[in-house]
Amino acid sequence: MKRRQFLALTAATFAAPAVMTRRAFAAEPGAPLPIPQVMEVGPGAGNTLTAMKGTREFIPGSASDTLGYEQDFLGPLLRFQRGRAARIDVINRTDDPITAHWHGMHVPGHLDGGPQLAFDPGETWSPELPVDHPAATLWYHSHVHGRTADQVYRGLAGMIIIDDPDADDLLPHDYGVNDFPLIVQDRNFDRSGRMTYDLGMMDMMQGFRGNEVLVNGVIRPKLTVSAGLVRLRLLNASNARMYDFSFTDGRRFHQVASDGGLLPAPVTMDGLRLAPAERAEIVVDFSDRTGVRLVSRAVSSGGMMGGGGMMGNGGMMGDGDNAAPLDVMSFDIGDTAATGPTRLPASLPSELPDLGAPARTREFMLNVHAGSMMGSMVNNLIGRDSQIMGINGQSFDMGRIDLSIPMGETELWRINADMMVHPFHVHGASFQVLKMGGRAIDPARIGLKDVVHVEGITEILIRFDKRAETEAPFMYHCHILEHEDAGMMGQFTVA
Ligand code: C2O
Ligand code: CU
Ligand code: CU
Repeated sequence: MKRRQFLALTAATFAAPAVMTRRAFAAEPGAPLPIPQVMEVGPGAGNTLTAMKGTREFIPGSASDTLGYEQDFLGPLLRFQRGRAARIDVINRTDDPITAHWHGMHVPGHLDGGPQLAFDPGETWSPELPVDHPAATLWYHSHVHGRTADQVYRGLAGMIIIDDPDADDLLPHDYGVNDFPLIVQDRNFDRSGRMTYDLGMMDMMQGFRGNEVLVNGVIRPKLTVSAGLVRLRLLNASNARMYDFSFTDGRRFHQVASDGGLLPAPVTMDGLRLAPAERAEIVVDFSDRTGVRLVSRAVSSGGMMGGGGMMGNGGMMGDGDNAAPLDVMSFDIGDTAATGPTRLPASLPSELPDLGAPARTREFMLNVHAGSMMGSMVNNLIGRDSQIMGINGQSFDMGRIDLSIPMGETELWRINADMMVHPFHVHGASFQVLKMGGRAIDPARIGLKDVVHVEGITEILIRFDKRAETEAPFMYHCHILEHEDAGMMGQFTVA
């Protein structure tokens, strides 16, 4: 389908309900940021991650139905140590099949928690993960085909920190004191203050976005920090929203890590974009003792490419409220003396590999299928399994292996999209980005990645060192979860 036809189709069919994001409930910002409980996971037995149903009053007086691991919403912070196996029993006490996918970890396919490894209510899955990964901020979430968006939205997600004794002392590393997880998610609340997830055609097309921002499960919280260097581990665990973070006083901060671990050196910036599933660790200096808010400027996400964001935030079909920056959370300075390093090192022990020259090139085109989209609209129903998105013209099929990739060989993947922008994610390895939007990228500034924002021609260098068999292949997909569920996903073996 040509972009112009698509525009006509979307304009005619999905006129935006103007009241979609008007708030009737009163969400008071400023509750303290909850710090997820830590679960140290090593080779011993006894660590359980029980997926369960719950309820949560995100807005006082309105209970929402939720899911969580070990709790009502989201899950504990899993702490793994490099070089030490991590054994965990994942128990399903929900009403539906689930998985636990270790997003960003390099583990073989049968431990990866992808869609083929879904397990039923009442069952337990007990992987023992080899932790062969440098220090990094990763995450985990359910990954059942056709249900991922709904399950993650309701709460089946959490953060993973991988510690590496060789890297830990250079940066603030005292969890909950000068090192904080920030799981950022937007959620939609109806007029009564209940969290809702009603997927209309427009949400399917651009990805579902909410009218409130939660950090660690709380609406626009407040964190009190000491007057020193603070490390923030940002995870965009939203279904579809892209953020462009900055502080209200324009202060600069330093990115020290991206998806796959530390950067070779801190990168100073005053704004940071984070697409769904991306992570960034930043260090912020609060020694000026000035409170500040973290906000996100409007960006088009899931929007049209190159067209001024017709379907993006602030466009005629996006969240009209969103032209002004979104409030994410606030910081104030407490009286506790700062601990940890007082200055940033000039360089960091990053582990950017030398991947060498690619043995082959593969092309990926992320598509929206016009025909089946029309079909869905005629039925005026979005079934959980309606497959209106695809890659290289095909929607995801659990029974089809799309690629067989030789282990240990470097490949060049060229990714593009025919009408929207998409965060493209690959399981089983981290990669280096060579090009984004057709432009060359300095790998030292963005580090090792497992998600890349595809807005124009995107090139990555990737090499797989973990095996994945036909029974439990690895996935590549768009991490706008509605797109993934709608078929923008493929699977591959590594041998
Ligand atoms: Cu975050 Cu295929 O996953
Ligand atoms: Cu993943
Ligand atoms: Cu997408």
